[in-house]
Amino acid sequence: MTGAPSSANIGLMETEEKRATRYDSLVPKVRDTIHVLGIETSCDETAAAVVADGKVVKSSVIASQTKLHEKYGGVVPEIASRAHIEKIYPVIAEAMEQAGTGKDDIDAIAVANQPGLTIALVVGVTAAKTLSFAWDKPLIAINHLHAHLQSAMLSQDNPQLPAVALIVSGGHTCLYDYRSPLEPKLLGTTIDDAAGEAFDKVATILKLPYPGGPSIEKAAANGNPDAIKFPRSMLGPKSLDFSFSGIKTAVLYYCRGQDMKGENKVDSMSRQEIADVAASFQAAIIDVLVKKTQRAAKKIDAKAVLLGGGVAANNELRTALRQMCDSAVPPKKLLVAPKQYCTDNAVMVASLAYYKFKAGLFADLTLEPKATG
Ligand code: KG4
Ligand code: ZN
Repeated sequence: MTGAPSSANIGLMETEEKRATRYDSLVPKVRDTIHVLGIETSCDETAAAVVADGKVVKSSVIASQTKLHEKYGGVVPEIASRAHIEKIYPVIAEAMEQAGTGKDDIDAIAVANQPGLTIALVVGVTAAKTLSFAWDKPLIAINHLHAHLQSAMLSQDNPQLPAVALIVSGGHTCLYDYRSPLEPKLLGTTIDDAAGEAFDKVATILKLPYPGGPSIEKAAANGNPDAIKFPRSMLGPKSLDFSFSGIKTAVLYYCRGQDMKGENKVDSMSRQEIADVAASFQAAIIDVLVKKTQRAAKKIDAKAVLLGGGVAANNELRTALRQMCDSAVPPKKLLVAPKQYCTDNAVMVASLAYYKFKAGLFADLTLEPKATG
């Protein structure tokens, strides 16, 4: 046979058994502490972190690309990918330095390989595979959404389970049945826009600065949440899915008129009017998120509620979910991701990887990025 060798005949494709044996020889038999280097490049943050035993954060380095995407009002994949390429090795080197770890202290390399922008993910995946190969360390593939969920577990020891987990980010709005870090079961997801996406788009309509979520929250602080009754789409009495495109359109019509000719209405709105729209929009989104979480909690008889993802940084959402949990009979424990680990970071990747490490769930060097997951 001529042509380039396939991955199988150059030995990259391993059977589970072969891989387990190889990694078995790499993992020291007795090791008090497991250090994982985590890598995250799914969207517009280049991040690396070292976490010990899934809980102790030794370092967390994030190179944000907000400035690069600001003028486009959203993430431009090509720009994101190029910025990851530029930053990935300096960020990893800084994470290793801050943690005071050398390659011999690292037990595994973990990387978020799905879901996300494939041309962004591929940068982290390639870096992780290169280090795994060069340093002879096990490689661990992490689902970015499951990692967001893990960030809510960071400071918790053995919460009562099952829990219902709400992950709200720029690309996803998901509810999970959570019984173990390794197998969260998807209960519902968005059928159109994600909650964070709606925040970002409404901020653009209101001409508020990028990224939209924090800008809306800031503007809403001075507004009346009951000023405008925006629609709350529940998708029927039993659905655990979400739809936020209707509310986004409602805000657009409110600001520009049904015929969309009122282009300049936002320019002539007072600060108070803008604040009222922001507060009313935010209240409607939170209302839906809380009611659906309550519905899911009832369905699986959840003992606790987990909250993670970029939108989980929103104080009003945190407060509303806390009220829901406190007033439940019996009350439910609310576990919220620390603010610095709500938006994308690599601590959540390295933390979740610890549990995959313990379970022997390793990837091989054929690992690829995937847009969905
Ligand atoms: O998890 P994340 O960093 O990236 C994705 O995986 O998508 O989430 C980013 C999203 C953006 O849509 C941003 O506007 C939103 O989280 N966000 C917020 C807040 N902070 C960030 N949304 C509402 N309120 C906030 N305080
Ligand atoms: Zn994310």
